[in-house]
Amino acid sequence: MLSLQENPLRVGLQQDRVPEPQILIIFGASGDLTQRKLVPSLYEMKLERRLPPELTIVGVARRSWSHDFFREHMREGIESFGSGLQSEDTWEEFAKGLYYHPGNIDNPEDYQALKEFLDKLDTERGTRGNRVFYLSVAPRFFGEATRQLGQAGMLEDTDKHRLVIEKPFGRDLASAQALNRVVQQVCSEKQVYRIDHYLGKETVQNLLVFRFANAIFEPLWNRQFVDHVQITVAETVGLEGRAGYYETAGALRDMVQNHLMQLFCLTAMEPPNSLDADSIRNEKVKVIQATHLADPENLESCAIRGQYTDGWMKGKAVPGYRAEEGAPDDSTTPTYAALKLTIDNWRWKGVPFYLRTGKRMPKKVSEIAIQFKEVPLLMFPSAAKQANPNVLALRIQPNEGISMRFEVKTPGNALRTRSVDMDFRYDTAFGQPSSEAYGRLLMDCMLADQSLFTRDDEVEAAWRVLTPVLEAWEAPTSPESIPLYEAGTWEPVEAELLLNRDGRRWRRL
Ligand code: BG6
Repeated sequence: MLSLQENPLRVGLQQDRVPEPQILIIFGASGDLTQRKLVPSLYEMKLERRLPPELTIVGVARRSWSHDFFREHMREGIESFGSGLQSEDTWEEFAKGLYYHPGNIDNPEDYQALKEFLDKLDTERGTRGNRVFYLSVAPRFFGEATRQLGQAGMLEDTDKHRLVIEKPFGRDLASAQALNRVVQQVCSEKQVYRIDHYLGKETVQNLLVFRFANAIFEPLWNRQFVDHVQITVAETVGLEGRAGYYETAGALRDMVQNHLMQLFCLTAMEPPNSLDADSIRNEKVKVIQATHLADPENLESCAIRGQYTDGWMKGKAVPGYRAEEGAPDDSTTPTYAALKLTIDNWRWKGVPFYLRTGKRMPKKVSEIAIQFKEVPLLMFPSAAKQANPNVLALRIQPNEGISMRFEVKTPGNALRTRSVDMDFRYDTAFGQPSSEAYGRLLMDCMLADQSLFTRDDEVEAAWRVLTPVLEAWEAPTSPESIPLYEAGTWEPVEAELLLNRDGRRWRRL
């Protein structure tokens, strides 16, 4: 059998190749993502000599910036949010490939002007007509920008032209389907890269290696041994000045439909036949298609929302959601969501998957915890006076790693047991932090590797699972009916009950 290292279809491990010369065109280039993440991670790759010297970046936005202003703005981004310039020479060389082109999303003439500008750059910088268009604009513009790019003939070449679309892809099933149709009218699926930055995280990719490169876990990974699974993505941040976007999204669209569903799929899917993009995505689609809310007729028993009120974070008073700048004071937007999902297949029938995410939680922590069944007969007196089931916890961030909880005998004459953790940590094992998710995904896209991007049917299947909750939570309701939790505390009481009713508890992380 091939090991991952020998397998030519290693997931995204084409990364040791240098991409072809190309132009990366970022729409929405005056926004935070470009300055904080995209350009600093490209610069990081430049420092590591992983980019072709011809690589050219063109920022597009409405503001009438000059090339030099854009370069300076990006330099500040690298210094404040990246790992610094490190080498003035490298920066000089990188900055020569940075350009800015003003344009309006809905103006066809601006696309023609952009096209001419890109053709000119091809000649000057030797980028050979290879283009990646990255839509980092407000989600409501994804369709328009795609349509205009298509009409301007900028997505015609199925080998040389690629389209990257940020999340959330659609607002619900119908709008995601409509957006997919727009995309399909102007390019083929192999040109499309729907980004979910969680898939670029090292520990998320490690889920595949952990499950399918080790022989000992897979036999236990099923309803016979697993009692339930908890997937948590807790954040300490609040709204961060993004009320305009967040009010229209809420926790379900912002985090669950994409990041949590991806963690869920990689945990629950069947082993793919190989590690190429479509084999992995086929398995992800299959498992989502078999997934549904535990009791869609009785939503309160399987979907809980919440919103944070004012409270304390690290000794500092913080405002509640409704008092955040830009948030209406009668907002019903959920900043917390918890779901109970079940999967109708042979592997998982009857095993609940509990998913939760929230802002202003006491800790930033993302993890997947597999809780195994209790031993059938408890023979030893345990310190906790009850059976402590084994738990396998895969920590996505921070303190990336894996830990296994099991019982041992405590020292001394008495035969008592206690739970201990066997711990693996990335930083101590490898002596280096895991790499930045956006850098990894940009590189994959430049190398035309779609393994870590979501396919059209996958994104639609994820919306389908959430549709009953979206519909129910979108119905007009009074602000008083939204369960509340104090900033700096874990979930609302209602979400505690979601597990307590099943005789289980959320993990305290
Ligand atoms: C983004 C969401 O996709 O992910 C943000 O829009 C959220 O609201 C962020 O804060 C979390 O990402 P990370 O990598 O910090 O866990």
